[in-house]
Amino acid sequence: MTAQLNPRGDVAVLVPAAGAGVRLGPGAPKALRLLAGQPLLVHAVRRIAAAPSVHTIVVAAPATEVEAVRAMLAPVASVTVVPGGAERQASVAAALAAVPAGPEIVLVHDAARALTPPQLVESVAAAVRDGHDAVIPVLPVVDTIKEVDATERVLGTVDRSALRAVQTPQGFRRPVLVAAHRSAADALTDDAGLVEKQGIAVTCVPGSELALKVTRPFDLALAEHLLATGA
Ligand code: CTP
Ligand code: MG
Repeated sequence: MTAQLNPRGDVAVLVPAAGAGVRLGPGAPKALRLLAGQPLLVHAVRRIAAAPSVHTIVVAAPATEVEAVRAMLAPVASVTVVPGGAERQASVAAALAAVPAGPEIVLVHDAARALTPPQLVESVAAAVRDGHDAVIPVLPVVDTIKEVDATERVLGTVDRSALRAVQTPQGFRRPVLVAAHRSAADALTDDAGLVEKQGIAVTCVPGSELALKVTRPFDLALAEHLLATGA
């Protein structure tokens, strides 16, 4: 069933989905790979569309797959699809340029985080609505982290209590994200990183284990298992 987005919502979600998925191994672009019989992108968009504040979804698809992605998502939700770029940052910029007037909160969410619960979309958006310029969902780091040199010799142990693993969706007041992309110099894999370079404060909210990024074959197997057990 096609999800109805909220015409009175204040949130636009950009979904970069144009990556190749090199680390997942040979096959289709990652966002189009199947998880329990459906593309990762379909799982991701269905969950975004279920978040009540969402007014607009813009997907950046692989340039050769724009029509296929439009057809794939038409039964899921009313979504705008644009061609992505060679780097994630270019894909996000292309999607951002397609957001219509209206939503003043913009979230950027990896298609590869296909099982992210709608509640995380809402909690990030709520933190921006509450007055934060930039908000990222994070988890504590569980492994001991060592700093090493080029020969794999240990230089020291990093204080893990001060570290966070960062997920998406990352949320921004719209003008903050627009300005960060306009003045972006280097390609970063993280939109909050661009905002940090502008000297703007970035705030953390609790992330979700279910927002794991499908990167390697192990992650795909884990996502299959999570889906089979009710995610
Ligand atoms: N992405 C994108 N455009 C790019 C590169 C990445 O829209 N040029 C998107 C991916 O589709 C993914 C998200 O950014 O949803 C996070 O990137 P990543 O997990 O690195 O995906 P890929 O780049 O596809 O994977 P890999 O780096 O293994 O090739
Ligand atoms: Mg990548």
